[in-house]
Amino acid sequence: MHFDVAIIGSGLAGMTLALHLADHRKVALVTKKGLMDGSSNWAQGGIAAVLDTRDSIEAHIQDTLVAGAGLCDETTTRFIVENAKSAIEWLIRLGVPFTKDAQHETGFHLTREGGHSHRRIIHAADATGDAVIKTLAGKIRSHPNITVLEEHIAVDLVTGRKLGLEENACHGVYVLDRKADRVCLISADHTVLATGGAGKVYLYTTNPDIATGDGIAMGWRAGCRAANMEFIQFHPTCLYHPHSKSFLISEAVRGEGGILRLPDGTRFMPEHDERAELAPRDIVARAIDYEMKRHGLDCVFLDISYKPAHFIQEHFPTIYSHCLSLGIDITKQAIPVVPAAHYTCGGLMTDLKGRTDLPRLYAVGEVACTGLHGANRLASNSLLECMILGKAAADDILHAPSPARIAIPEWDESRVTDPDEEVVIAHNWDELRRFMWDYVGIVRTNKRLERAQHRIKLLRDEIHEYYSNFRVSNDLIELRNLVQTAELIIQCAQQRHESRGLHYSRDYPDTSPEVHNTVLIP
Ligand code: FAD
Ligand code: SIN
Repeated sequence: MHFDVAIIGSGLAGMTLALHLADHRKVALVTKKGLMDGSSNWAQGGIAAVLDTRDSIEAHIQDTLVAGAGLCDETTTRFIVENAKSAIEWLIRLGVPFTKDAQHETGFHLTREGGHSHRRIIHAADATGDAVIKTLAGKIRSHPNITVLEEHIAVDLVTGRKLGLEENACHGVYVLDRKADRVCLISADHTVLATGGAGKVYLYTTNPDIATGDGIAMGWRAGCRAANMEFIQFHPTCLYHPHSKSFLISEAVRGEGGILRLPDGTRFMPEHDERAELAPRDIVARAIDYEMKRHGLDCVFLDISYKPAHFIQEHFPTIYSHCLSLGIDITKQAIPVVPAAHYTCGGLMTDLKGRTDLPRLYAVGEVACTGLHGANRLASNSLLECMILGKAAADDILHAPSPARIAIPEWDESRVTDPDEEVVIAHNWDELRRFMWDYVGIVRTNKRLERAQHRIKLLRDEIHEYYSNFRVSNDLIELRNLVQTAELIIQCAQQRHESRGLHYSRDYPDTSPEVHNTVLIP
């Protein structure tokens, strides 16, 4: 198969890009599960943008820089914040049903989240991602120039280096067709990684199952630099319930007045930060972790029950009904919550057009590190980044010359056999996620990082041997990528000898006056 552009990943970044290209280029949208499976679809709180005339671009920039703890790139931040309004207008034109507020000058309801000095989050109740992705998916499915390849998981990029060429450009991607159980080649003039983050590296995460760091690992193996991987954002409030897998309690609950309490009802956030529940996420997550360890708790509680029931049901219908299905009536009871891995601030380094280090390879969305998030992402800035960089990359691709086509060999399976023990994969997957949670979590030490590094080496060697000898499967591809991504996280964490934003080390509790990114070169 040959396409002008192969986009790997159908979250907001991949869909935005596809829609901006499709009137002019033949596009393949490759996605490892269904079209709508991704973190984007799960997004709750909304999208940050300066829409209210009392708010300002400078205030949004400032809030982003403060949350990013000195590490945000100011040019990137300004570019994204300044383009936010037009990106929202694009979504409105496409028909996204954002929550309305007739009293507000914009006609829309704007909510508030931690670290924001104004109400600036446009949203569709508490299921913004679902509303956005459903709308975009409809346009994608009906566009004649977009070929959607669902149940196709990218295995590795086709690079000049692997083909023995002088220039290490990207020529496409090998993908496993999960239904046909066969690896096929997609060659493309331009290839885009829009594969999302890596929350599944950790035992507890708000992320869907697809978030296995595939794009970061593929890009790294192809020769791209990765940066700031130590900054894994732990969302403070993931529902704690034995029968609920990965369910987020949106930060907007705190934005609308939710209070964090110990089991005896004591409010604790004011002791940790003057912004209390609305402090940036790193501070709130660390405070919860501290209180849980101090009191030996399984969870803390988020209480919005003092607000009128109709207000809660209207603003948080998804959270209300999910909790109710588990026997928790949030209009009457506090919600049991724990922090969980939520967002990968680092990733493949790109410029403001989404270009990576490899010619004709782009990375957009959570897979990338543009410099917007610094050491800690400001709430609701991620969906925004997906849209702005998605469009910027599309513009760049539309202006790029088409390269000459070259012959690319098919995937070679002649030297591998069927796997003998599938249990190895399941076991290693579980082990990895557990030790990453225990040793590379919210609070780190040199010793813990050393232990994690030791284990990752053993796992890497075992997986490498497995990958070299056996036919690839979905689980093996993901595990290989998880191990690679975890290794990058550990390496970055070991290189940072200070505490900053989301990286907190007991051995280096202070923040250094010198500011630097952690850049890994393959
Ligand atoms: P995703 O939406 O995760 O999409 C990745 C795509 O890549 C998927 O289609 C996946 O199947 C595909 N893929 C991955 N690997 C491969 C492969 N090897 N081959 C083929 N396909 C592959 N941010 C906000 O700004 N506001 C919010 O309110 C908000 N709420 C959130 C709530 C939750 C529960 C979560 C988990 C995140 C939230 N975030 C929010 C963060 C935000 O949703 C994500 O950062 C953003 O959606 C990432 O978009 P993306 O397009 O980069 O990746
Ligand atoms: C949330 O709704 O709390 C998630 C917002 C985000 O991750 O930006």
